[in-house]
Amino acid sequence: FRTAAVIPAAGRGVRLGPGAPKALRGLGGTPMLIHAVRAMAASRAVRLVVVVAPPEGVTEVKNLIDTHALPERTDYLVVPGGATRQESVGLGVGALPDDISVVLVHDAARPLVPVDTVDAVVEAVRDGALAVVPALPLADTVKEVEPGAKGEQEPVVATPERARLRAVQTPQGFDRDTLARAHAEAAPDGEGATDDAGMVERLGVPVVVVPGHEEAFKVTRPLDLVLAEAVLARRRA
Ligand code: CTP
Ligand code: MG
Repeated sequence: FRTAAVIPAAGRGVRLGPGAPKALRGLGGTPMLIHAVRAMAASRAVRLVVVVAPPEGVTEVKNLIDTHALPERTDYLVVPGGATRQESVGLGVGALPDDISVVLVHDAARPLVPVDTVDAVVEAVRDGALAVVPALPLADTVKEVEPGAKGEQEPVVATPERARLRAVQTPQGFDRDTLARAHAEAAPDGEGATDDAGMVERLGVPVVVVPGHEEAFKVTRPLDLVLAEAVLARRRA
């Protein structure tokens, strides 16, 4: 069960507003990506971290990781990413050495995921699940709408029963061959797939849920950075 973590970090972070690529922006004085790499390396199971960097930032990311110590047991690779998250993850999976049999896929934009959540995902895959997602119940009620043009009123189509819905996080964990097949068989323009488990579902392979964690939230908009800084400050206190 040699385990690797692929970290897609090649996004621009458009919703966070102007600035450096999101993964390279600071959180408590350290780039978000470094927090994410450390969060994966904190799991004793993870022996290799593959960072998928902005194509023009490969050298910068390598230097960055070199200056922030990882545990002795953890190797890392940096590969250039693609135009979509799906493409970036596919490039990371394509760079995995042959001896890896379990793969975590973890967003650089979820820098604060606790190690217990990472371990729970790894354990579920090692126990035989082909695909595992950490997930939490929703606080908000969710409506399906008929998306309209900007400024237009959108009619509500349906209200799915909230108790049956889960918000999914990363790291998502996979049997390596299952994940590779999902990426090989997915439509090449992957805007449709916002997570990897969704691609595995399309193969007809079962995906199981383990409990997620509030601190595994994704840094997407400016307010998320405020929350992330506060969580970090509380941990350091
Ligand atoms: N990602 C990637 N390659 C892309 C797009 C996204 O590796 N072409 C990564 C991001 O770096 C991030 C993760 O996928 O770690 C989740 O994506 P998201 O939160 O949407 O990040 P961005 O795409 O950077 O943000 P935005 O959509 O606001 O531009
Ligand atoms: Mg995005």
